[in-house]
Amino acid sequence: MLCKICKSKGKREKAVIYLRHHRLALCREHFIEWFERQTEKTIKEFKMFSRKEKVLVAVSGGKDSLSLWFALNKLRYETYGLHISLGIEKWDYSKKSLEICRKFSDRIERPLIVFNLKEEFGYTIEEIAKGSKRKDVCSVCGSFKRYLMNKIAKEKGFKVVATGHNLDDESALLLSNTIRWEVGYLGRQSPVLPEEGGFARKVKPFCFLTEKETVSYAILNEIEYMKTGCPNAKEATSSHFKRALAYLEHQMPGTKLRFYKEFLRKAKPIFEKEVRGKVELNECQVCGMPTTAPVCSVCRTLQRLKEC
Ligand code: AMP
Ligand code: FES
Ligand code: ZN
Ligand code: ZN
Repeated sequence: MLCKICKSKGKREKAVIYLRHHRLALCREHFIEWFERQTEKTIKEFKMFSRKEKVLVAVSGGKDSLSLWFALNKLRYETYGLHISLGIEKWDYSKKSLEICRKFSDRIERPLIVFNLKEEFGYTIEEIAKGSKRKDVCSVCGSFKRYLMNKIAKEKGFKVVATGHNLDDESALLLSNTIRWEVGYLGRQSPVLPEEGGFARKVKPFCFLTEKETVSYAILNEIEYMKTGCPNAKEATSSHFKRALAYLEHQMPGTKLRFYKEFLRKAKPIFEKEVRGKVELNECQVCGMPTTAPVCSVCRTLQRLKEC
């Protein structure tokens, strides 16, 4: 297959990727160009951030977040990486993830902020999960990561935090929220969550790009990333939704993108009305971060661990 753009210019260049839902075959150069243009378009469309703002890019060491940092830096945004080191020893997971993020930060010559859970809190994420009411490590980890992204952004003066969530993640989350009719979550699921009540603005510039596209971008730019997922992750329910959507996508190319885009355009405004102003936030008595309770769940978990 030949690159469509090159062909239109009278050149014969072999395509490296075929984007079935866009009916587009592209060579390396034109795929990279297309990918970055899509990213920029999403940033502009949802007014995620400008070139005058510092952006904190949360990087796990995986393909999505490192590709995001790479693309934003190439698009001349002022980026800083943030890696939360969780202290997971199995497979040397946390050590390797940190190494990969550090190497990447050196490569693109941008600073990396590292938050080490064990050093700062005295516990690894697994120790924290053991001492918390919820025993599932990954869900405790998710709430700690969200909390830390906000807290570090606030402390270091960032108004925006960007994550590497892609279209596969967002459409699977949407399907899962829809099947359960999680009205509250549906009202809040968005490519951009505004800055409010002490929370930083959260943005997902890759929300319209598929996992296949982000992996291809990483490989074509020779980005070294973690190939293994978190060792604590069990067969997550999200993977069932991802598989169901992959089947639908195979039968009807463009399903994932349509499902998510049409939700944002037609359905989200309805759910948004339902949840607007329903949560009242106040400052956590211990750490000062926004919470619905007198003491936030992270501080409560840490207090409980100290009492053990
Ligand atoms: P996940 O929930 O693991 O799919 O991660 C979703 C997004 O959260 C990633 O694309 C990153 O932007 C961010 N993220 C995940 N883990 C970390 C971490 N350990 N440190 C910083 N950011 C992370
Ligand atoms: Fe953090 Fe699994 S323990 S993602
Ligand atoms: Zn081309
Ligand atoms: Zn707190």
